Parts: sequence; C-alpha cells; structure tokens
Amino acid sequence: MSTASYHIVVLPGDGIGPEVTQEAVRVLEAAAEALGFQVHMETHPVGGAAIEAFGDPLPEPVLAACLKADAVLLGAVGGPQWDNLDRSQRPEAGLLRLRKALEAYANLRPVEVPEALANASPLRPELVAGTNLLIVRELTGGIYFGEPRGRNGQMAWNTMRYTREEIERIARVAFQWAARRRGRVTSVDKANVLEVSQLWREVVSRVHREEFPELELEHLYVDNAAMQLVRNPRHFDVVVTGNLFGDILSDLAATLPGSLGLLPSASLGGRVGLFEPVHGSAPDLAGQGKANPMAAILSVAMLLEALGQDVAARLVRRAVDAALAEGVKTADLCRAGETPLSTEAVGRYVANFVRQQATVFT
Ligand code: NAD
Ligand code: IPM
Ligand code: MN
Repeated sequence: MSTASYHIVVLPGDGIGPEVTQEAVRVLEAAAEALGFQVHMETHPVGGAAIEAFGDPLPEPVLAACLKADAVLLGAVGGPQWDNLDRSQRPEAGLLRLRKALEAYANLRPVEVPEALANASPLRPELVAGTNLLIVRELTGGIYFGEPRGRNGQMAWNTMRYTREEIERIARVAFQWAARRRGRVTSVDKANVLEVSQLWREVVSRVHREEFPELELEHLYVDNAAMQLVRNPRHFDVVVTGNLFGDILSDLAATLPGSLGLLPSASLGGRVGLFEPVHGSAPDLAGQGKANPMAAILSVAMLLEALGQDVAARLVRRAVDAALAEGVKTADLCRAGETPLSTEAVGRYVANFVRQQATVFT
C-alpha cells in the first residue's frame, strides 16, 4: 500500500502568526506520524516578513510555491510598523493577492461553543451553549476588490460589486454545506439600501428555488443579523454573506465561544486551499507566548479534512476538545483564578494527545 504524501506550504507571517503556526505544524506532524501519512513542509515569508526580506508582501516565488502545493497553511499578517505603507504595499495586500490568485472564493468560518467553554463567553452560558454555525464568506470579490477605487486630496472611493456568477457559486457552497448540516441557510445582505444586495438576494433565492428547494432559506439585513447572532446564536446553521459583512460578522461571532483565538478558517474554490485562523497578528500579544494556538490548530483540522484525511481531522478536533475540557488554555480563555498556559504548552498538549490517542481512535 502506498503512503499518502502531501506538500504543504507554510506561511507563518507576522506578529503571533509564527507562534501559533509553530504549534499548528507540531500538531500536523504528530497527526501524520501517528496515522501513517507524510507531510512535506516548505516555509516562506509573507506579509510584513516578506516586505522586510524582499520588499514585497507576496513575492513571486512564494506565490509560485503556493500554487504548486497541496495546501497552504497561513498564520497572520500585518502590524503597526507597516501601517503607513501604500495600500498595495501593505502586508494585508499580499494576503488579498494570495486569496485571489488561489481563487479561494469560499471562506468557511465555523463557530462552535464547546461545552467546556460556555463559561468563557462574555454572553450568558445558557445562551451560547450548543452554538454550531458556519459562516460562508465570499472572499475574492465585493468591495475588497471592486473597481474603481482610489483617493485624491479631497475624497476617496471604493466600489461594492458582485456578478451573478460570483453570487451563484458562493450560494451553492452554502446550500451544499447546509445539506450536510441542519438544512438552514441564512443569507445576509443590505438589500433595503444597496443594489448589490438586491442582486445578491435575487440570485441566492433563485439558486435555492431551482437547486435546493428542500432546504430552508431566510434573508436577514446585516444590522439585524449582527443582533440576532448575539441574541440567539443557536438559531443559525449556515450564514452566507459577502466579503465585508462576512469579515465583520465572523469577529463578532468570536464572542460566542469567548475568543478570536478559537476560530479557524478554510478558503476553498481553486485547486489549492488556504487554511488560516480568523484572527490577525495581534501585535499586543506578539512575542510573549500568550497567543491562543487553537484557531491555527483547528485550521490544520480543516486542512486535513480537505485533503481527505478525515480520521486525522477528527482526531485533532477531539484533542482540542480534550485540552479545553482539561482546562489546558491560554489567558484569553481563563477566568479569575485559572492559570493560563503558554502557546507552546497548549500546542504540546494537543500534539501529545494526538500521538497517544491515534491507535485508540482508528
Ligand atoms: P487581531 O485579530 O490581530 O486582534 C484582535 C484582538 O483579538 C486583540 O485583542 C488580540 O489580542 C486578540 N487575539 C487575536 N488573536 C488571538 C489569539 N490567537 N489568542 C488570543 N487573543 C487573540 O486584530 P487587529 O488587532 O485588529 O489587527 C492586528 C493586525 O492584524 C492588523 O495589521 C490587521 O490588518 C491584521 N489582521 C490580519 C489578519 C490575517 O492575517 N488574516 C486578520 C485580521 C487582522
Ligand atoms: C481576515 C482579515 C483580512 C480580511 C485582512 C487582514 C485583509 O481581517 O482574514 O478576516 O479583511 O479579510
Ligand atoms: Mn477579519
């Protein structure tokens, strides 16, 4: 029997990116070793790190390596030292170019509240317990990429635009996930004000009617959706929305489990998937060993699932749940009186669990 073998490009990036990525890589290596497949990893700078090394947040050879990989694992990019650069030279511009070049138009951002964490949320535990939703964020269009854009001395302008085709394909992704979950899609827009949202609503409704009539579809305006997410999070199954609204709603949804440091993501659509935490480079925590590595580790679980290594993916998720249930957590999840562990200690716990439980689990 031949052993499966994967080529993974690792882009640690800036701030806490390298710290959380190191733990994600530790867990990926543990899973591969314990379950008998191979991963070959190649690390490259991206974002601010690549600006410092090559004067470009996404150097051509780095992009070329990503395009050849089986998957890309990214930490985070950005930091105050690069905030004054021209927009197109900033670390964030490198990330946006990478998403576009990979054609990773479907950004999946699952939000779950593990039982052990209902108390970590700033919201009431009985309100958030049992939350299990999936934000499907359109990632390569909308106002992030729309032309014309620019500024002069007197004003600045951006353009929100979506084509029918862009809306159709992201709607299909949302319905396909809903079919595997609880069967409900909530489409979020601002159709009471924006033409783009009117087209969005029309196209999502048509895809529903023609291709997925057995599923449930509802539409919410984004302002109401923000409130309902906090007021009644268990109502939601799959939430589909555009690039900007999805960015905002996913950080908001991080308050449900209690920390942004728990939310992973997968960006799919092209040949190569991109896997990264929802959070950024957290300059306030960088270099202190305090960052929560779970979002990066759970991004590895999403990567493994996308590669077809379902057992490994489930094992990694089980290890994260076990760690949280045992109180193995960083400061962002600790309540008064609890002792926070370091990024590395949490990563080592998860990796050890993966090694020890692999035989029990398979
Ligand atoms: P951020 O996500 O970096 O941080 C927001 C808050 O969440 C901070 O209080 C931070 O300490 C906390 N936090 C984030 N990740 C955490 C973790 N793993 N563990 C514990 N706490 C965590 O957002 P920001 O401060 O608005 O942005 C900082 C920089 O990151 C900016 O340059 C921004 O452009 C960039 N950014 C990058 C990405 C990305 O690479 N995908 C995403 C968001 C922001
Ligand atoms: C995210 C980030 C990025 C985005 C930034 C860094 C470009 O906030 O991944 O959520 O807005 O998409
Ligand atoms: Mn964001």
